[in-house]
Amino acid sequence: MLRINNISLFQFRNYQENQYQFTRNIVGFCGLNGSGKTNLLDAIYYLCFTKSYFGRADAQNTKYGKQGFRIQGDFLLGDNSLQVTAVFRENGKKEFGVNNEHYNRFADHIGRFPCVMIAPDDMAIIIQGSEERRKCLDYKLTQLDAGYLRTLIDSNKLLKQRNSLLKQYAESGKLDENLLGIISGQLVAAGNSVYFHRSHFLRTFIPLITERYQTICQSEEKLSITYKSNLESIDFNQLLQQNRDRDFAMQRTTQGPHRDDLEFNLNGNSFKNSASQGQKKSLLFALKLGEFEAIKQHKGFAPILLLDDVFEKLDGTRMSNLLEKVCLENDSQVFITDTHCDRLSASLSKLDVPFQIIEL
Ligand SMILES: Nc1ncnc2c1ncn2[C@@H]1O[C@H](COP(=O)(O)OP(=O)(O)OP(=O)(O)O)[C@@H](O)[C@H]1O
Ligand SMILES: [Mg+2]
Repeated sequence: MLRINNISLFQFRNYQENQYQFTRNIVGFCGLNGSGKTNLLDAIYYLCFTKSYFGRADAQNTKYGKQGFRIQGDFLLGDNSLQVTAVFRENGKKEFGVNNEHYNRFADHIGRFPCVMIAPDDMAIIIQGSEERRKCLDYKLTQLDAGYLRTLIDSNKLLKQRNSLLKQYAESGKLDENLLGIISGQLVAAGNSVYFHRSHFLRTFIPLITERYQTICQSEEKLSITYKSNLESIDFNQLLQQNRDRDFAMQRTTQGPHRDDLEFNLNGNSFKNSASQGQKKSLLFALKLGEFEAIKQHKGFAPILLLDDVFEKLDGTRMSNLLEKVCLENDSQVFITDTHCDRLSASLSKLDVPFQIIEL
């Protein structure tokens, strides 16, 4: 079981110095536009991921006109009380720790306090380019497998090194064949591992998503999801050799797992081009709930769920189905924002479980 019992914020975004106690498993944040609801969700996310969900640099996370910020939260993980602290110092250095023990590598924290956010901008996963989907897939995997994050970081670093060698050659005409061989070899090993992890995970994850989609839609719509990778049909090493001339010409590694994608189809047509707004929203929720479920299965406890502005996206029935599914069946702690305190209270009251509303 995972819970966050309180959070204190100092100079984080619009917050100067604030503390909030979370006394229930379901916590609603309500307030006007710009009152700090999303920022508060993001502060919780920050403690779980060592960074902002929205990819903002820490200087931007600091309250305007101030230097440095601090976020601290008391978690309960099983029987253990754990205090997580993030400090961004005035000199631009960041410290992150649990019970006053600082991490040398922030990556080691990922997955210890799993959480899943659903935010309006996440629609990019469905409608934008493949990079968004890879990022989304990788986020899920890193929460499940600490080793994966290291492999991914290695793979990205090696890809950059290989690309800069290709670029150097184009600029100077000189090539260190030996070095290119070594880096390519290491990239093949890391890339193969990335591919292996992704395809292994997707084998169980894809059915979870399609199942969730059916539950949300309650219709005959046929969703299919396919993992697309260059490595499905050819070994990475062979692929690099085959693309050698092209890579030199383009000054970058043109194919590999860094081009992987997930393809969504609805009744045989491309989801991106044919699905309605509502169907896209339903897919987004299915993806996120699939992630939630995968984490729960893997860890044995449910992640914290952060729902930003979902009321804007779902009708009342779907909303209560979603909340019921997550809150009642999973024993998860859920944070949910809404601009209307009344609407939020009314929706949560229907669930017949204790909840708490914090007005911002
Ligand atoms: N670094 C910062 N320093 C001070 N204020 C900031 C900083 N970054 C963002 N803000 C302010 O925080 C507010 C936005 O907060 P947030 O996005 O959490 O609002 P919200 O309650 O989610 O609003 P909405 O209902 O529109 O989604 C804005 O007023 C913005 O100017
Ligand atoms: Mg918001």
